[in-house]
Amino acid sequence: MGAIGVALFLAVALAATSGGGDAVIVEHTFVVSQIKLRYLCNDTLVTLVNGQLPGPAIEVTEGDSLVVHVINKSPSGLTIHWHGVKQQLNCWADGAGMITQCPIQPNKNFTYRFNVRGQEGTLWWHAHVGCLRATIHGALLIRPRSGPNSYPFPRPHKEIPIVIGEWLGMDPIKLETRIQSSILSDEPLSATINGKLGDANNCSGVIEDNYILNVEQGKTYLLRIVNAALHSEYYVKIAGHTFTVVAADANYVKPYTTDIIAIAPGETLDALLVADASPGRYYIVANSKSMRVKTRGIVYYNPSKRSDDTQVMEPDMPGKDDAAASFYFHGNLTSLPHPLAQPVPANVDEQLFMAIDTTHMCREGGSVCGLVSRMNNISFQLPPRIPLLKAHYYHNVSSSVSTLQEFPSIIPPGLVYNDGQTSKATSVRRLRYNTTVEIVFQCPPVMYSYSNPMHLHGHDFFVLAQGHGKYDADKDMQTYNLVDPPVRNTILVPVVGWTVIRFIASNPGVWFLHCHYEKHASSGMAMAFMVENGPTLDSTLPPPPSDYPSCDDQNNGLEFE
Ligand code: C2O
Repeated sequence: MGAIGVALFLAVALAATSGGGDAVIVEHTFVVSQIKLRYLCNDTLVTLVNGQLPGPAIEVTEGDSLVVHVINKSPSGLTIHWHGVKQQLNCWADGAGMITQCPIQPNKNFTYRFNVRGQEGTLWWHAHVGCLRATIHGALLIRPRSGPNSYPFPRPHKEIPIVIGEWLGMDPIKLETRIQSSILSDEPLSATINGKLGDANNCSGVIEDNYILNVEQGKTYLLRIVNAALHSEYYVKIAGHTFTVVAADANYVKPYTTDIIAIAPGETLDALLVADASPGRYYIVANSKSMRVKTRGIVYYNPSKRSDDTQVMEPDMPGKDDAAASFYFHGNLTSLPHPLAQPVPANVDEQLFMAIDTTHMCREGGSVCGLVSRMNNISFQLPPRIPLLKAHYYHNVSSSVSTLQEFPSIIPPGLVYNDGQTSKATSVRRLRYNTTVEIVFQCPPVMYSYSNPMHLHGHDFFVLAQGHGKYDADKDMQTYNLVDPPVRNTILVPVVGWTVIRFIASNPGVWFLHCHYEKHASSGMAMAFMVENGPTLDSTLPPPPSDYPSCDDQNNGLEFE
């Protein structure tokens, strides 16, 4: 197809998809700077976008183009990642530090330009360098092109972002160095809902503000829930109410009614809340599955008539380390037939087994100890000087990335989790354009292990199955859901268990795959796929944008290694 052919094809495709309004350009300016926030009787200097925590929610209609000018007035280099946005033929805008670009240096600007196409629901954005995402994050709301009446569920009265975060009580830059050296001690001080700690937290008797959700009786609300926390999976409940989950990671699911939501870092969920209880006040609680932190806000009925002396109803929460409710929740999601949905690929071209784990290791005779995470015994290290995508695009990966290593497809059984075999490298796996990949993620089948929310950039994947114990192909392949598996960009691999996903590598570029727990990612639970160009112009990655950040004369700031 010649250039005119491509242009014509695009124009026709646009006309065909735009049943409602026309696609527009949505423009935002993100000014990044350091601000003091006061929580729990202490002022803490943190880095924010436009002075807000969480940062601004971006609202678009499917098919729109986004233009976000990032102006870095903070002292650290940073990137912004558009978590879950497919970025078809636009890997340059993915914003993964040292994977797709060098950080935007202090006093420098960069403009992200991308389309949000073929996805509806909730995604989010966050800094992707070091721990900065602790305070640099926000929701991305994508509405259907043909208007709110075309949701595959009753039209909600209002849409409400619920961003779950964690208040660390310290500059995230400090946290970064602590993660490298210490272990489990750095729990956050509290969880947050939309930046509020809630009244379960106080210092010297001063109670923290609650997030308040005002509702009118009988109305339906669409909660757009994001887990932006660094460290923990959360359970969310509202006393006296149920949720109906309708989408996960900007893919519709069959309506699933539940009184509890389980959401891991990186995951997003859309859930309907019907205000059908008797007028009063009800706590909305988010508590950590694995740590002691929690937060609560209040759902207020008919706020004009509220009486503040009535007792606030509190939900019963699962106990600490209750993994069953999460396993059950994740296993109950199935995809909804929808015009935007893709069929499950029937044949697999490449099968990968990924053993993922985290351990505390000491070197040099026990004097240097720290957290080491790995995938198939390789602990990932970011390339020190040139982002992988740039090296890949200019065909000099092997010469410019000295730490490079091919990610091994299988590991011989005896080698799984072998401390002696662990190496540190920039591990990548090359994929031909349009390869269908199946991955089995295996957490250590031993009691001390953790669950791991694994996130893939630039692609959604089908979640075919999950289970406990050690994956057994003969037996477990029988349980694959090839009919209506949920489609996601992040999936929680259960503790002492496994998960199988499948996707088509249809997007040329370099795409990061990593655990969304900050401690695990920064200590090496990551790898990258290098997806080659296809045979045609519309399967070839175009050149980098003209203002692509230079990697010269900079310290790459907070990059993890
Ligand atoms: Cu939400 Cu690579 O991240």
